[in-house]
Amino acid sequence: TGYITFDEGYGNTGSCLSDITYIDGEAGILRYRGYPIEQLAEHSGFVETAYLVIHGELPKPRERMTFARLLSENAPIRQGMLRFIENFPRDAHPMAVLSASMNALGAYYPHLASNNHQNDLEHFDEAAAVAISKVRTIAAHTYRVNNGKPFNYPRPNFGYCENFLHLMFSEPYNEYISTAEVAQALNLFLLLHADHEQNCSTSTVKMVASAGANLFASVSAGVNALWGPLHGGANAAVIEMLQKIHNDGDDGTRFIAAAKDGKGDRLMGFGHRVYKNYDPRAKIIKASFYRALDSLNIKNDPLLDIAMKLEEVALHDDYFVSRKLYPNVDFYSGLIMRAIGIPVNMFTVMFAIGRMPGWIAQWREIAQNPKMKIARPRQIYTGPQIRDYVPMEKRA
Ligand code: CMC
Repeated sequence: TGYITFDEGYGNTGSCLSDITYIDGEAGILRYRGYPIEQLAEHSGFVETAYLVIHGELPKPRERMTFARLLSENAPIRQGMLRFIENFPRDAHPMAVLSASMNALGAYYPHLASNNHQNDLEHFDEAAAVAISKVRTIAAHTYRVNNGKPFNYPRPNFGYCENFLHLMFSEPYNEYISTAEVAQALNLFLLLHADHEQNCSTSTVKMVASAGANLFASVSAGVNALWGPLHGGANAAVIEMLQKIHNDGDDGTRFIAAAKDGKGDRLMGFGHRVYKNYDPRAKIIKASFYRALDSLNIKNDPLLDIAMKLEEVALHDDYFVSRKLYPNVDFYSGLIMRAIGIPVNMFTVMFAIGRMPGWIAQWREIAQNPKMKIARPRQIYTGPQIRDYVPMEKRA
């Protein structure tokens, strides 16, 4: 069958052509549709960037309004979906609920999820709005259910992030109105996660889509891939690591020594498959993190000192420097989310909300490609050579 190239973990394999995101890992460059991430972080917001990632251009005023209206109209979820979420056990992991719920959306909106790409593309704008808007409502309601609290109805007049914070934290007796600092920090977090080319979850979305699957089935698979601690789960793993170091009475020194000699855990929030000099998202969120020390009161977090110690050591220690292991975006985002009041088991859900535009855009690239081929990698077989069947009585 010819020569098969072995590329473990696909480190050197371009699996598709894509117009969405450009990364130069050596130079620390990240661009969405040609726009540097630094400029988007400074001038844009999550909703506008989501539009850019999905549609390829920054929206004109009318397009921006139509997009916002679609998001607003699609913020509520059906009664059946509410009950679906409420029927999970109270300690269900929010990522399990999210993945199941994103797939279930396809069942509630069958005209958006026909598993015929031609049909599904005709309703693409609605499907994209359903996914982007409802993922936020589903996530917030999962948190409410986990905490024994009632559903908050989305507010049509609130911005995307303000609405999410309202859905999470408002009480019947006390409406939560977020401060500008909190909403901005969340907005930036989501924007920085909007797409990241062929990472594990996005490749999963494309792989599932390549068999002809609908948007909701595809992004639901993406949620599952994101859950792993080496990918989207890393932001939660960072806080768990800091907490463990704190509980052990360590200042980080013992943890780093164990990580270096391979006997301990990896330093979560450090290293990246593609960025080998620095992660440009980490640079941006680090600045936001230092601003938040005062504005969101991170400076009173008992885990802050440990985080600072790890950052300091790793930036100068030969083990980390020689392996080009730098703090990545997840290292800083966890402490920001903690300060906003988001519990650790929701961190990866937050990443999924941010990544939704990227998954949607990447799904569309597959669906729109008339020459699309099903993704079907090969393998290098390492099992036994041919041998004869052994009857049961002869098996020693
Ligand atoms: N702590 C300690 N050692 C590490 C770490 C770490 N975080 N990451 C890599 N190494 C070592 C690894 O042991 C290996 O050492 P050696 O050459 O002596 O065997 C060397 O560095 C190369 O590691 P690798 O596993 O070949 O690198 P990779 O490109 O396959 O892995 C990674 C990339 C991100 C999975 C990895 O760096 C890691 O596990 N980091 C911690 C988890 C994390 O923060 N993930 C979030 C990534 S950013 C958000 C996202 O895109 O999901």
